Amino acid sequence: MEKTPIAVLISGRGSNMIALHEAMRKQSMHAEIACVISSSASAEGLQYARENSMPAISYKPELWRDDQQVTDAILHTFSEYHVQLVVLAGFLKKIPEAVVRAFPNRIVNIHPALLPAFGGKGMYGRHVHQAVLDYGCKVSGATVHFVAVDYDTGPPILQECVPVKADDTAESLAARILQLEHRLLPKCVDLLTRGKVQIEGRTTRVLE
Ligand code: GAR
Repeated sequence: MEKTPIAVLISGRGSNMIALHEAMRKQSMHAEIACVISSSASAEGLQYARENSMPAISYKPELWRDDQQVTDAILHTFSEYHVQLVVLAGFLKKIPEAVVRAFPNRIVNIHPALLPAFGGKGMYGRHVHQAVLDYGCKVSGATVHFVAVDYDTGPPILQECVPVKADDTAESLAARILQLEHRLLPKCVDLLTRGKVQIEGRTTRVLE
């Protein structure tokens, strides 16, 4: 069976991209990373991608300020690498609407909280975990969801919880959730590329 070519979009350290790549190496998955696109040329994750022979792409910074130009560039890259599935792994830019519409239910994002809580514009990385602690939550977690036009609003595919501990800091909570993310994201990609995720309206069903 042919492997599904995947684009992974990152903005920083890229540990979720690395976890996905390692999972692909360790277990037989019907997926391969066809290209890594970063919103920043200095993202640490790009180095790992290059060292591991993955095409590592960062567009000129001005491009991200022009919706049409960035849409054209992303769609051109997807076409060049025959991308079938897109994974946002710590990607902090908004995906242009035209890209979302060109890849219906084929773009997924990992978010470090239990959506719809603690999602939306400005809710990324440490901000999410600090907001969870400030609210006094007893659990948090991670969500992998389909990407819709608005931030963090698409149907969830996988969600799992972790406890919030009394002495947690944003950093300790982030570290606990990151471990979960590194398991959840490869699992979700595996399910999607084996055709094990059905979607009806907002409801996804995982067939295992
Ligand atoms: C991850 O925790 C990811 O869930 C989060 O950024 C981190 C990126 O880490 N994404 C968001 O907050 C998106 N709203 P990584 O670059 O090491 O994968």
